[in-house]
Amino acid sequence: DIFSEQRLNSTGVNVHDSETLSQLQAAIESQHNKPFTACSIINGREIAGADFITAHSPADLDRVVGRYSHIDESGLSEAVDTAQSYFPTWRDRDAKDRCETAMKTADLLEDNRDRLLYLLRHEAGKTLEDAIAELREAVDFCRYYAEQAEQLCAQGLKMPGPTGESNYLYHQGKGVFVCISPWNFPLAIFTGQIIAALVTGNCVIAKPAEQTNLIAYQTIQLMHRAGFPPEALQLTLGPGKQVGHFLCGHPAIHGVVFTGSTATAQMINRNLVNRDSREIATLIAETGGQNCMIADSSTLPEQLVKDVIDSAFYSCGQRCSALRVLYVQSDVADKVITMLQGAMNQLKVGHPRDFDTDVGPLIDQAALDTLQAHRDKMSKAGRLLEAPKLPNLTGYYVSPQAVEIDSIQQLKEEIFGPFLHIIRYPAKDLDKVIDDINSTGYGLTAGVHSRIDDTIEYVVSKVQAGNCYINRTMTGAVVGVHPFGGMGFSGTGPKAGGPGYLHRFVHEKTITNNI
Ligand code: SER
Repeated sequence: DIFSEQRLNSTGVNVHDSETLSQLQAAIESQHNKPFTACSIINGREIAGADFITAHSPADLDRVVGRYSHIDESGLSEAVDTAQSYFPTWRDRDAKDRCETAMKTADLLEDNRDRLLYLLRHEAGKTLEDAIAELREAVDFCRYYAEQAEQLCAQGLKMPGPTGESNYLYHQGKGVFVCISPWNFPLAIFTGQIIAALVTGNCVIAKPAEQTNLIAYQTIQLMHRAGFPPEALQLTLGPGKQVGHFLCGHPAIHGVVFTGSTATAQMINRNLVNRDSREIATLIAETGGQNCMIADSSTLPEQLVKDVIDSAFYSCGQRCSALRVLYVQSDVADKVITMLQGAMNQLKVGHPRDFDTDVGPLIDQAALDTLQAHRDKMSKAGRLLEAPKLPNLTGYYVSPQAVEIDSIQQLKEEIFGPFLHIIRYPAKDLDKVIDDINSTGYGLTAGVHSRIDDTIEYVVSKVQAGNCYINRTMTGAVVGVHPFGGMGFSGTGPKAGGPGYLHRFVHEKTITNNI
């Protein structure tokens, strides 16, 4: 029995032991033997186009991490046809087999730790701490969803009924799912979406973000090696405007799992509705946020500032959960802002290879341009705090930035990077603050720092947010512990890493037998 023991989350690495750390660093860097290559994988065949695109590291533009090629329309059609014809076989496969394969995938991810950490560092620009956390999350998704699917799909749920009648409720895969994943969690979210769809008996066409094709390719290879059939799991590489557009408009697709911007999720939704199909497809979208934290005058300033730094600036602010707007009660605002400035001065922006780096690079030039344009705009709209020094490196580095502004209405869209907005509020305006937060329409994460229980309860009951964090950081949801996902413009649900996630991937089928 694969689940005879209680499942534990992945343990990670003790990087506080200097010998363990130096061995790990050497093992990661030793992966730089030759550049990685990635192409699409359709029905088990590697399909490369005529041209390869070079992937440079966002942390060091002189470093070539690898090269990848795009798929064309005939490859995409073959991916859909293969997945569609294999679906009944995969749906009817013993659910335990599928779960065992997910468990094997988790083991292979752990066994290939150094290569995956190398790509998280050099392809995605992740610090060691973030890269290890991400690998652990990917492993946890595999084991958690395997456990959940075993309970959901391996046998029918006996229902009550009158004498002489038996009733069972079964859960079955829906069909072909397109999994469109983001560059900011190129291993964890990529893996989580795919494994959830596969263990529930769906076939998958994976479409990773363009910026992180290399790690996607490596991960799919591990999944195939674990035993997921090539017909059930295809990889398609290319721009969203072509590959994503083609797949989400295809009549044979039954569902799309998407993590990315709200605008793209809305476009996918329209595509699914407008295609030439009678199928009402499933869309599971996890999108952006305008995430706020409210700190009242009872807050412990040292803890608040540490949590603000972590939530707004670590991971270079490139988490959908990251803090974007800090509301601080006027009575304590000067003190908090002075301490925050002091803490920001201590942040080290640097290459993610260096263990003491706090803030690594942004993902690409477009992200850097957006952040710089936002900084210019905000420098006219509010008071900028002093930013930490930038390293002398050729990468997409940006200084963590904080600005005091008057109102959240000055922010029209989510800014994805280490940019914090601070708004003072008088105690009497707490309701207005909550209304303002809710008026953005987003609803992903929210934080409250207070030592007054009534205030905490009031804020978390009124604020529209899928994940509310009290007196702690707002990032780093743990699989099976903090089910994660938003409401409003921030997503459709169900929550990743939560007990309800797999339900959206299955049809329910009731069988009533008049014995
Ligand atoms: N799940 C991540 C976090 O909690 C964001 O995607 O930070």
